[in-house]
Amino acid sequence: MSAIRIDGNEISKSVNAETAAEVEALAQKYGVRPGLAVILAGENPASQVYVSRKVKMCEELGIVSKKIILPESVSQEELISIIDDLNKDDSIHGILVQSPTPKQISEKAVINAIDPKKDVDCFHPANVGKVFLGDLSGFLPCTPWGVSVLLEKSGISTAGKHVVVLGRSAIVGRPMAALLLARGANGDATVTVCHSKTPDLPSFTRQADIVIAALGIPQFLKGDMVKDGAVVIDVGINRIPCATTKSGFKLVGDVDFDALVEKTSAITPVPGGVGPMTIAMLMKNTVRAFKMSKGE
Ligand code: GUN
Repeated sequence: MSAIRIDGNEISKSVNAETAAEVEALAQKYGVRPGLAVILAGENPASQVYVSRKVKMCEELGIVSKKIILPESVSQEELISIIDDLNKDDSIHGILVQSPTPKQISEKAVINAIDPKKDVDCFHPANVGKVFLGDLSGFLPCTPWGVSVLLEKSGISTAGKHVVVLGRSAIVGRPMAALLLARGANGDATVTVCHSKTPDLPSFTRQADIVIAALGIPQFLKGDMVKDGAVVIDVGINRIPCATTKSGFKLVGDVDFDALVEKTSAITPVPGGVGPMTIAMLMKNTVRAFKMSKGE
């Protein structure tokens, strides 16, 4: 079997085009535009790239962005005081603090300081709790939501399927399981979550109709770990040494793509799979935040 390659670049483009059109309609209706504040503390190179991409995407879609760069040495108190000001600022509808934060700052304290109505990452316990209760009317977790949209736009239903999620992180594995469990067209799945303490993990993945890999181990999922015709979604982004590239590195996912592409019915590449969806869904959450602020 040769797999359909699910193209996250194409699908995110169509999501972003819908968002841009919605932003224009809202700007016409209200005379103001959605606003997103992006806070970066410190100089983590990967975080700098992610923050630049988020700000650039805002520009492309007509969303106003406010980039706040803070030194590595910023105190938790200072950061929370900046968040407090943004919570009160009516021109800002979404706030995100790029993770990881410097070591003196508790990410939990920072997330708790963001007004849940502006928590476009969907990290605040109030928003996470809603998602786990199956209420999808508010913000949705960006990466898991992106995976759901990739599946939906590729014509792959999760209803009644056995989906095995690899990884139990707060950003991907756990909220992914919650979305898949929710009632509705992109949920209604039977969900198994495997992690580093799962004995005989391949015995679970071999039963899966859909495997979603988000454990952060390069090329972990091998050809003999899935059944013929399974769907594989790769959330991993790992930088590994490579002798044939100029930089000496290459990006790979948590899936051994070459081994699985012949065995699966559909698979996402890395890069160009889930990655571009996360930002697309962040933009959609920002529009949701704006609409909520207007009582829509
Ligand atoms: N760091 C890695 N992924 C994310 C994300 O989705 N949001 C934020 N704020 N930080 C991250």
